[in-house]
Amino acid sequence: MRQSKQSKVLFVALALLAATAGPSFAETPVERGEYLTEVMVCVECHTPGVLSGQPPGPKLAGSEVGYEIPFQGVYFGANLTPDNETGIGTWSEDDIVKAIRTGERPDGRILSAVMPSRSFARLTDEDAYAIAAYLKSLPPTRNQTMGPYGPTETPPGMYYKFIIPGQD
Ligand code: HEC
Repeated sequence: MRQSKQSKVLFVALALLAATAGPSFAETPVERGEYLTEVMVCVECHTPGVLSGQPPGPKLAGSEVGYEIPFQGVYFGANLTPDNETGIGTWSEDDIVKAIRTGERPDGRILSAVMPSRSFARLTDEDAYAIAAYLKSLPPTRNQTMGPYGPTETPPGMYYKFIIPGQD
């Protein structure tokens, strides 16, 4: 009698443990999106301060450091917060997912290869929309990033440049 009571208690304790310490199936899309923007390095290219060695500014609010693609131009990680004028506040979640996976913006411009859309093309719908939901949940930050600049223009800010030996 006593033993079965004990095993009942043990069973309930184990069931509770399983319910609370189980895998992350309780993760919301926004939490999943936040996690993905960290491990997929979006935060590095799209957050002020990260690439310039300064204390990081508002997360994903656009980088002040550009990347040159030789003979194409210099591109700066865009402001991904939902600010309507300087960020992607007017974009729908479908627009965001399309840009991430295909590199095409709602206005039809194809993003430069600095933005690794080719590597992101195989993102599942679930993960891509989780990222979009997370970006939409960020506080809108007003921050106009520079560029893009064409191959003959000189950007006024910092940027990574490729040097071709003998041609600089
Ligand atoms: C290696 C740096 C790099 C990484 C990593 C990166 N991006 Fe980008 N991204 C860029 C650059 C640079 C641009 C601007 C390209 C251009 O203007 O042609 C851009 C543009 C974008 C745009 C278009 C915004 C606009 O206003 O045109 C979106 C959306 C975007 N990135 C989302 C993401 C997300 C989400 C991730 C992570 C899953 C990510 N990026 C990872 C560099 C990066």
